[in-house]
Amino acid sequence: MKRGILDTIGSPLVQVESPPGSAIAAKIESKNPGGSAKDRPALAMVEAAEAAGELDAGDRIVEPSSGNTGIGLSVVAAAKGYDVTIVMPASKSPERRRLMSAYGADIELVDGTISDAKARADELESEAGTVQLGQFENPANPEAHYRTTGAEILEQVGDRRVDALVAGIGTGGTVTGTARRLTEAFPGMDVVGVEPEANAVLSGGEPNDDEFQGMGPGFVSPNLDRERLTDVETVGIDAAEAECRRLAREEGILVGQSSGGSLVAAKRVARRLADERGIDPGRCPGPNNDVGILDDGPSDREPINEACPLIVTVFWDSGERYMSTGLFE
Ligand SMILES: Cc1ncc(COP(=O)(O)O)c(C=O)c1O
Repeated sequence: MKRGILDTIGSPLVQVESPPGSAIAAKIESKNPGGSAKDRPALAMVEAAEAAGELDAGDRIVEPSSGNTGIGLSVVAAAKGYDVTIVMPASKSPERRRLMSAYGADIELVDGTISDAKARADELESEAGTVQLGQFENPANPEAHYRTTGAEILEQVGDRRVDALVAGIGTGGTVTGTARRLTEAFPGMDVVGVEPEANAVLSGGEPNDDEFQGMGPGFVSPNLDRERLTDVETVGIDAAEAECRRLAREEGILVGQSSGGSLVAAKRVARRLADERGIDPGRCPGPNNDVGILDDGPSDREPINEACPLIVTVFWDSGERYMSTGLFE
């Protein structure tokens, strides 16, 4: 028995469709209690503030968020008894606002981008008893992914080497912390960041509006350790959304745009690594979903051939959070 909902943070690693000669597996982060990867940094940032004596009973947490961090903080604040105000760009999906309200959070909408939301959160923070956790610069954010996401992946792949991590970048916490843990085990592996084609700041483009929720903040986040990236891929919204629809209809996996976009990029990396190694495609079968759900024994499927590159990616949240955007229509 778990001692509370925050004890259930963690997610499965699931093999998904991959180009011939490769294997791709995704962390299904919608399985976290608040439904996204952001439960991890939300809890870690609150615990770090508590440990530093910056957050006390009765205090109010304030945070700018495009959604998932806000929801994660709303869950953590509810479970730990804090008040919370989330400042959110009005353009983000209404499902997210309703979820935060359901957990008892106060929401403030601002016109503009996440930078405008941050400016408003800075104003609110000047009020007494209000603490901003600062997901873009708080080291507890990447540290959470180092301790949990990265460590879980290592356990989940067993003896198997991970050849590449491919992940979208918002605060950079996921890619930075996870890569730091994985590269300790697999030095020399590829670490590929993913950003929106229309807002490709890391690739040298100008900051711009884009339709992705969660990745592409339009600036280089202090929490992104660029030194860890071996490459950056850009992905367009149409390709990302088409991948979301395919994942739902062909694999039974419901995810949002940044997850679809990360898989599009992961497939490019997989193709490149398989080509470089001259892999015989027949040696790396794709996933098949004929696993009996009532079978408690270990899967008797063949382990993935060691020669096939294994690429790990992250699916941040569930497609249910995007229904109002028309993504699945
Ligand atoms: C849906 C979604 N995708 C991707 C990301 C990027 O994660 P990170 O902020 O760790 O870079 C986020 C972060 O909020 C997100 O909500």
